[in-house]
Amino acid sequence: MDAAFDVSLVPPGLRRLDFDALAAEHGTPLFVYDEDALRSKMREYVAAFGPDAVTYAGKAFLCTAMVQLVGEEGLHLDVATGGELHVALRAGFPAARIVFHGNNKGDAELLAALRAGVGRIVADSHDELDRLERLGADVGVVPRVLVRVTPGVEAHTHEFIETGTEASKFGFTVSGGVARDAVQRVAASAGLDLVGLHCHIGSQIYVLDSYARAVEVLVTLVRELADRGVTVGELNLGGGLGARYLAEDPVLDVAEYAQVLQGAVREVSAGAGIAEPRIMVEPGRSIVAPAALTLYRVGTIKQIPGIGTYVAVDGGMSDNPRPVLYGAGYEAYLPARLDAPRDLECTIVGKHCEQGDIVVQGARLPADVAVGDLLATPATGAYGYSMASNYNKVPRPAVVFVRGGVARTVIRRETLDDLLRLDQP
Ligand code: LLP
Repeated sequence: MDAAFDVSLVPPGLRRLDFDALAAEHGTPLFVYDEDALRSKMREYVAAFGPDAVTYAGKAFLCTAMVQLVGEEGLHLDVATGGELHVALRAGFPAARIVFHGNNKGDAELLAALRAGVGRIVADSHDELDRLERLGADVGVVPRVLVRVTPGVEAHTHEFIETGTEASKFGFTVSGGVARDAVQRVAASAGLDLVGLHCHIGSQIYVLDSYARAVEVLVTLVRELADRGVTVGELNLGGGLGARYLAEDPVLDVAEYAQVLQGAVREVSAGAGIAEPRIMVEPGRSIVAPAALTLYRVGTIKQIPGIGTYVAVDGGMSDNPRPVLYGAGYEAYLPARLDAPRDLECTIVGKHCEQGDIVVQGARLPADVAVGDLLATPATGAYGYSMASNYNKVPRPAVVFVRGGVARTVIRRETLDDLLRLDQP
């Protein structure tokens, strides 16, 4: 007999919901976020790093209501494209508190950012620095620039989401003096304002020491620059703190993460004899992943003799491509039978026309799971909706925020007609 589902994977505000009523009103699949969990994680970050030191990475999950929460909790907002910038600005987010990322920002995207008065642009290449000088002059502003640096450290995570190594497509390498030259160029340019350095070593990181090693490389660079008369005031250390997806995954403490980063910056700066730069961080996943679950309905159960059992739900890789992209694991449970032992080992699959369309590999469910049951996968708040697609013309799910037991729709479900709205017959 297998142990019951570990309910600590579900945020408190979602544990006692009437999921039948929720599904009846909003349909399935459905993304359900605990608004208090979102807010309390943002508060933990602000408490640990201080006001104005935390930037929410919008790529993890972005919509108007989320932008508003980020604003209300006093965080800055990281956008990675003109599209994310548009959503942020349309939601009324103050441009001065936006950090604009991207390894290949186009003229139109940069112009939109400069015209809006975006507070920080993270420059990723010499081409971009050329563009920023030219477009800044056209608009009549001096862009505030951070130079993105690849420190050459490994983050011990999936290779697709590891970005701090020298082979990364992002940023300027520290080795060979490439980053140093880029920073000197910005500092020397009358058309650019040097705000600081940026580095993001990767995502879903459990080994905090990886950050300490990145800090060492960065602060050494700050020292080198100081020797050449360039002062770096701000170090943005990116995001990446890992989230707990499976019962056996560690719970990473934001305060401890802050101590590692702050301690490393303090120690290495003192050793290098330079003034401590101020730190910013850019968490996405660790704020939103644990705050949500996805609610599905079981549609078919298929037992293949001698092979195993497929439990098929009404979504799949179109609402969560992470299993197929990164081999990511999730837990699953039946909200109506939360405490039941989970005797059945099965594969939870979606409804798409691909064998790789897996929701949970090696899932455990109560053996009496039946067609029509509601099934939930916790910890789906990051990079699920934001990477959702219409593959097989499946409409994207609705998203609700729950507070005090009450759900409000923040993104409506797509209709079949939405699937045709771009077609030009
Ligand atoms: N800052 C920068 C510059 C980033 O590129 C990212 C994530 C973050 C901050 C936020 O990292 P987080 O705290 O969320 O780990 N689709 C992948 C994750 C891609 C991460 C991209 N960059 C996944 O589902 O695992």
